[in-house]
Amino acid sequence: MALQLGPFLTSKTMKSLSFKLPSNANPSRGSPKSMSSNLGYGSTSKENVKKPSVPRREARVPVTHSMPPEKIEIFKSMEDWAEKNVLVHLKPVENCWQPQDFLPNAASDGFEEQVRELRERAKEIPDDNFVALVGSMITEEALPTYQTMLNTLDGVRDETASSPTPWAVWTRAWTAEENRHGDLLNKYLYLSGRVDMKRIERTIQYLIGAGMDPQTENSPYLFFIYTSFQERATSISHGNTGRLAKAHGDMKLAHICGTISSDEKRHEAAYTKIIEKLFDIDPDGTVLALANMMRKRITMPAHLMYDGCDHNIFSHYSAVVQRLGVYTAKDYADVLEFLVGRWKVENLTGLSAEGRRAQDYVCSLVPKIRRLEERASERAKETLTIPFSWISDRQVKL
Ligand SMILES: [Fe+2]
Ligand SMILES: [Fe+2]
Repeated sequence: MALQLGPFLTSKTMKSLSFKLPSNANPSRGSPKSMSSNLGYGSTSKENVKKPSVPRREARVPVTHSMPPEKIEIFKSMEDWAEKNVLVHLKPVENCWQPQDFLPNAASDGFEEQVRELRERAKEIPDDNFVALVGSMITEEALPTYQTMLNTLDGVRDETASSPTPWAVWTRAWTAEENRHGDLLNKYLYLSGRVDMKRIERTIQYLIGAGMDPQTENSPYLFFIYTSFQERATSISHGNTGRLAKAHGDMKLAHICGTISSDEKRHEAAYTKIIEKLFDIDPDGTVLALANMMRKRITMPAHLMYDGCDHNIFSHYSAVVQRLGVYTAKDYADVLEFLVGRWKVENLTGLSAEGRRAQDYVCSLVPKIRRLEERASERAKETLTIPFSWISDRQVKL
């Protein structure tokens, strides 16, 4: 998946983009209201207990298992459909590319020469492009968290780690496909010699340790909306990173990014198809879920990123990708516009009064986000430069 983003916006920009509205989660299941706590990190009442040193962060009381239990049956009844319509978006392993297809072959005589060539090409790529690439790689490398997320979902989780249901088969095979993304980018970045691998590896360890908080409440409705959004966003960001590599003359890196981007697009097709089917079966429940996720805003899976020194590394990285045009607030609006059209949300009929309100909200959201984004980008003209640990503390403009 991964990547990317729910975005992209600097903390300053995020403040000005105040379209984050209250969640409509069921209050009886716990308030989603933000509160200052630390989810087991930083100082707590058990001050002296040794804990991983990660920064304090805003946390909320999690809402869990918000999908009514009877809806689990919907996913059971979709299994034949999923077998025929979702699993077709997986590629047979034998037809899949592998990281080795794009990397110097350590078992060949030409290995040193191939590495030298890779490093020569990498010299032409600016530091800020490396920051974007490293952020993508770290996000991909937090894959254990995403598989965990999928296996928290009611009605579709893999109950045994080898369950034969199509939902479980998808989750495992999707994870196996995704696993190649972080692997390839990691090896490329290591060989490039342009980055501080130890500090990147430390960031990955912190991130996997921290997890993620997409506020999807164990609901496959909410999480498959999230993954539809994320797969498309990731495809866009890898594609744009590839275009930057091409502009700096590294056609091999451009090919790597383009290849990963097209995997993400295939995953997007599967997840958007699931939501399309849910709109057929349960239009009311699905449009309410879509409005729910959009009110919360789709956050990047790597939003709990920390590198051991910069407490705002995630917003700094987001600012760099926004400035480079790798993933921007405009992309966020574009993804939403695409999905609303793809699922024909405007044409839904037979909705309850609450469902119609959700439909109106979702359909009016894109122009609102675009207006807010334009105003925010007019204001956010400051040119801060900060050091990034990932590139040996060299300075990069935000
Ligand atoms: Fe993906
Ligand atoms: Fe990926």
